[in-house]
Amino acid sequence: MTGVVDPEDRLGSSDPIISGFPVAGPPRFESIGAVRTGLAEVDYLADEGIAGVVFLADRLAKPVLVEGPAGTGKTELAKSVARLTGSRLIRLQCYEGLDESKALYEWNYKKQLLRIQADSGQAWEQLEEDIFAEEFLLARPLLEAIRSPEPVVLLVDEVDRVELETEALLLEILSEYQVSIPELGTVRATQIPLVFLTSNNTRELSEALKRRCLYLHIDYPQLDRERAIIETRVPGISQSLADQVARIVRSIRTLDLKKDPSVSETLDWARTLVVLGVEAIDAEQAKDTLHILLKYQSDIDRAAKELAGVEPPD
Ligand SMILES: Nc1ncnc2c1ncn2[C@@H]1O[C@H](COP(=O)(O)OP(=O)(O)O)[C@@H](O)[C@H]1O
Ligand SMILES: [Mg+2]
Repeated sequence: MTGVVDPEDRLGSSDPIISGFPVAGPPRFESIGAVRTGLAEVDYLADEGIAGVVFLADRLAKPVLVEGPAGTGKTELAKSVARLTGSRLIRLQCYEGLDESKALYEWNYKKQLLRIQADSGQAWEQLEEDIFAEEFLLARPLLEAIRSPEPVVLLVDEVDRVELETEALLLEILSEYQVSIPELGTVRATQIPLVFLTSNNTRELSEALKRRCLYLHIDYPQLDRERAIIETRVPGISQSLADQVARIVRSIRTLDLKKDPSVSETLDWARTLVVLGVEAIDAEQAKDTLHILLKYQSDIDRAAKELAGVEPPD
């Protein structure tokens, strides 16, 4: 892919952490334009702003915090960057109650017990040293991303779902690309992963977390980009239907709704229309399929009224 550096050529770089600051490895992308066209080749349509932040994240060795409404392509961005750069995607899906043992690492107690049982008569100090060795460690996504010898994109998805205290677990990784394990020492990344954190804004994230990241807000796309997304992601759709879908969704988003339709719902609607063999949307079809696009009855009623005047284009 032009402008995107082969991952093989990036391996074997020297220690990426110098005097406590991460030093970016060899660049992954030649330019902002190369990010944008590269992403388009893996079916992700970015605007200049999105491509610019991805470019800088690589050059500055900084994580990206991606915020915005649900279904606007935040998670997909991380997946697409992984595909584009030929990296392994390691994903930490956040949820309430997520803790260190699921995010970072935990000791394999069963294996440790077996080891202790298998060996009688050994001095405790020696045994302790043995059972707190790497082979008894279960690496969870964050540690795995740091330890990986191959290029990695780390996706910390929906970080706003974890409690504030759990957020703190991320800070060391995000600023220094390392994990401290009391019994073992510090595990440092041999190469800097590209890190994406996504948030649906259900709560404010800590200043400490924000400070470590580049910030990217992904909103609903402009008309042209949404039309292009539809054409890319919905096989068999005609240009005119894609255009009509994009315009109608756009006008629906201007209504005062409980929940605006997201890009993923736009795509579901477009796919539905293709399956039903619709070539041009009229008010009747729009009304019958609005439940694909909107998920509250009051929103559906509202939109149906608004669309009553829709005529298919000639
Ligand atoms: N810029 C884009 N280019 C291509 N597809 C997109 C884009 N933005 C969103 N999508 C589509 O929308 C779907 C939902 O996006 P997703 O990343 O899951 O949303 P979020 O994580 O923001 O809630 C994706 O699976 C993808 O098909
Ligand atoms: Mg998501």
